[in-house]
Amino acid sequence: MSMTRRDLAGLAGATLLASAAAEASAAAPATGGTVTPTPAQQKLIDAAQDVRQRAYAPYSHFQVGAALETEDGTIFKGCNVENLSYGATICAERNAVFQAVAAGHKKFKAIAVIADLPTPITPCGMCRQVLGEFGGETEVICTNLKKDVMVSSVGALLPAAFDFDPSKYK
Ligand code: THU
Repeated sequence: MSMTRRDLAGLAGATLLASAAAEASAAAPATGGTVTPTPAQQKLIDAAQDVRQRAYAPYSHFQVGAALETEDGTIFKGCNVENLSYGATICAERNAVFQAVAAGHKKFKAIAVIADLPTPITPCGMCRQVLGEFGGETEVICTNLKKDVMVSSVGALLPAAFDFDPSKYK
């Protein structure tokens, strides 16, 4: 069964108390140490690395690639696409999610993200919230060009996610 936004908080063991959330994350970091990727994870990393080359980043010069695997094994790639207005920039992760949704997919197994950083890149807050819309269980494979890999999940990366029940506000 797929997870919904409303399952996010439960998955992360989140609390709305900021201090308690901070304590929890200190005890159990959202991303553990580096790991050796499985062949399936490596395939997704390779796809993210491939699309990163097509990033349009003339302002930040920071190229990001993301590859999202759907429940049926299809892979959608996304890169960051910047804009002169800055605010209209789209991150690689959301680009990949939107392409998957436009193709009719809403159940996601994993997403790999890659950038040239000293440590593996983790998705920005907005991308975490967008990924969370489709379930907290999605695996997040964070990596960099040095091939350091950290594996987490959307729920673990987004404790105390914004959430509400729209049916209560009619
Ligand atoms: N960026 C991403 O594509 N993904 C992230 O998770 C963080 C930031 C992009 C946005 C912008 O084009 C550049 O990286 C610098 O912030």
